[in-house]
Amino acid sequence: MISLEVNGNKYDVEVNPDVPLLWVIREHLGLTATKYGCGAAQCGACMVHIDGKAEKSCQVLVKDAQGKKITTLEGIPQDHPVIKAWLSGNVPQCGYCQPGQVMTAIALLNEKSRPSDDDIDDSMSGTLCRCGTYHRIRRAIHKASAMMAEGGKHDRTRTEGEKPKKKKTRRKRSKKTKAKGGKQ
Ligand code: FES
Ligand code: FES
Repeated sequence: MISLEVNGNKYDVEVNPDVPLLWVIREHLGLTATKYGCGAAQCGACMVHIDGKAEKSCQVLVKDAQGKKITTLEGIPQDHPVIKAWLSGNVPQCGYCQPGQVMTAIALLNEKSRPSDDDIDDSMSGTLCRCGTYHRIRRAIHKASAMMAEGGKHDRTRTEGEKPKKKKTRRKRSKKTKAKGGKQ
């Protein structure tokens, strides 16, 4: 029995401990956003986050992922700046590589909030796009970086998959209470 924590959920799976994490994510947990491309560490389609770092899940044995926090694209909030920048920039073409691109980009921005073009090219070089969307990817990463810097659009202190905390709001005093000059 292998115990995994994926996107904040706990799973116990009956599986050979020596199979790659990618198979378990897709076949056992049904999280199919993570793609199989090459199975040989060459394409990055299978990229997930393990304890916040981008990792190729075809290269990680499931037994080695136990006790770690795994995040797949399904665990990224829809209001994350990278998702917004990807959508507004129409980055995907066929889309197959894009989950891996997004997961790689988020890991980059978590480490380096204002990456240069060279930083982006270095970090994204292990995640291939057969459609050649690299220029749109680069532009979207800069846009997401700017959105994060503006602040308020996304709370970067939130861990992936965690819901935002409700902010305390002060109740407005009713007209009646105000008129009386009394307390709420
Ligand atoms: S499927 Fe993992 S790197 Fe290609
Ligand atoms: S969008 Fe088609 S492989 Fe990247």
